[in-house]
Amino acid sequence: MNTATQNLENDHVYILRLTDVMLAMVEKQSVEIGDFDLVINLIRKFADGLHHAKEEDLLFPLLGEKGFSPESGPVAVMLHDHEEGRQYVKGASEGIQKFKTGNSAALQAIYENMKGYALLLQGHIDKENNILFRMADQVFSAEEQQNLLKQFAAIEGNAEAEFNSEKSIQKVDSLAAIYLQ
Ligand SMILES: [Fe+2]
Ligand SMILES: [Fe+2]
Repeated sequence: MNTATQNLENDHVYILRLTDVMLAMVEKQSVEIGDFDLVINLIRKFADGLHHAKEEDLLFPLLGEKGFSPESGPVAVMLHDHEEGRQYVKGASEGIQKFKTGNSAALQAIYENMKGYALLLQGHIDKENNILFRMADQVFSAEEQQNLLKQFAAIEGNAEAEFNSEKSIQKVDSLAAIYLQ
């Protein structure tokens, strides 16, 4: 990965795989609550904790310096998507807690929020890969891309050991081996 945008696109490969797992779990009407817990952890710690942190703390502010406001236009849309995603995760997580205390009707809320998140993120990643990152590639210098990459590494360095990028990718692949046959 030579550029910061390529680093983010590589994260997207695994986030998309996770969303495919989520849709498959819903489709199969899975009741494997431990797997749902793992999905939520992967979203919170990898998709949001690492990937969205790289975007929100570093990429978007640098785009802001280039004239792309966080208040309107494409960056604002991306921030709004991230926030909407967090609401789905909250809904799914609350459903999981209710299901664990014996409320089987909560399964429906888990499925709806999982599906909502997966479809939202698939559209979101498509917009980033095809529009936002291509804009970034046009306005960032090679040096700026390298600086961003170094700062990404610092975020990765602070990750929880069990959910750093490498471990998270392994966990996504283990779920994919179960659900994406
Ligand atoms: Fe994003
Ligand atoms: Fe992204």
